[in-house]
Amino acid sequence: VFSPVEMAPRDPILGLNEAYNADTRASKVNLGVGVYYDENGKVPLLRAVEAAEQARVAEHAPRAYLPIEGLAAYDQAVQKLLFGQDSPLLTANRLITAQSLGGTGALKLGADFLYRQTGKRLVAISNPSWENHRALFEAAGYEVVEYPYYHPATNGLDLDGMLKSIEALPEGSVVLLHACCHNPTGVDLSLTDWAKVIDVVQRRNHVPFLDIAYQGFGENLQDDAMAVRLFAESGLAFLVASSFSKSFSLYGERVGALTLVTANSEETAPVLSQLKRVIRTNYSNPPTHGAQVVAKVLTNPELYSLWEQELAEMRVRIKAMRQALVEKLQAAGVTQDMSFIQRQRGMFSYSGLTKIQVERLASEFGIYAVGSGRICVAALNQSNIEHVANAVATVLQE
Ligand code: LMR
Repeated sequence: VFSPVEMAPRDPILGLNEAYNADTRASKVNLGVGVYYDENGKVPLLRAVEAAEQARVAEHAPRAYLPIEGLAAYDQAVQKLLFGQDSPLLTANRLITAQSLGGTGALKLGADFLYRQTGKRLVAISNPSWENHRALFEAAGYEVVEYPYYHPATNGLDLDGMLKSIEALPEGSVVLLHACCHNPTGVDLSLTDWAKVIDVVQRRNHVPFLDIAYQGFGENLQDDAMAVRLFAESGLAFLVASSFSKSFSLYGERVGALTLVTANSEETAPVLSQLKRVIRTNYSNPPTHGAQVVAKVLTNPELYSLWEQELAEMRVRIKAMRQALVEKLQAAGVTQDMSFIQRQRGMFSYSGLTKIQVERLASEFGIYAVGSGRICVAALNQSNIEHVANAVATVLQE
């Protein structure tokens, strides 16, 4: 039965962990996967998370099944974080949130739901986008096309190209948008840019699907949610995939959410009922631990402010690493202007390194980056940055 099965290619991001783990060099650095490491090169356990976990252990809570759509306190807390405490949507009966297996799980639920219930078959993603976006939507049966996004000459946004391309899509297409800290480029839209995107999406009757996996890593929790809130104000129906993997450093707990914003309250009950079927026929209902922890932090004012502070510490350290990288690249003899690294937001820098240069970084220096040239700035620290800057300077110069 298994004889026709051929080897699949290694995952372009998670596959790098395997190569990194197999590397025996002490100086190896993993700049591949989007994970925040602290100054000591460790994935942090946030103090707010630790406190919430201790409280939970002390409760000796039984492990019953959660509802199909997840823990109610968690789902409500997700909505407040995305739309703001005062959003009229919170009481308009137009929001459906389902706990999901990370942001990826949220995307898959949304993709399956739209495919089955609304007949959507075409999705447009940014060029470039997170590698798994294309793979995930293709696996869900979609044709995946791209809209221009990154302008290599300016290291910035190709807004014109993006708007024209979204305009030209068949009416009613699904348009996947990165709400903040674009993965992989770190290039985001301004508020006026977002207003233009909303205008074209609305005129073309497209279905916006917002992916927000890095809320809090750009400016702060509020500003990073501005795109979500502008869409909310527009009155459009849309979807949001969100994740606490990065912002709570809870990668392995798979804590995410899919939120659907319906056009009116009459749509809400049928949509929820069908979304529950998508979940039930896939993994039945979600796991408890991560959602309990996140809900505890988000609903307790002291833990919330501790978390906000810890999130700010991560953000500030990443920004410091961006600046240090630009300086050290210059000190290592790189003559190109690399200051764009400081303007990019979130965990990543789209470095401009070619696939061959990325391969050299791995083979000669034990430094692992994504083939697209994406490097995870959140994995740099005072001990490895010199090694990385010198290696990048070497591969850029030859
Ligand atoms: C990334 O882009 O590296 C992260 O979102 C992790 C992943 O699942 O790929």
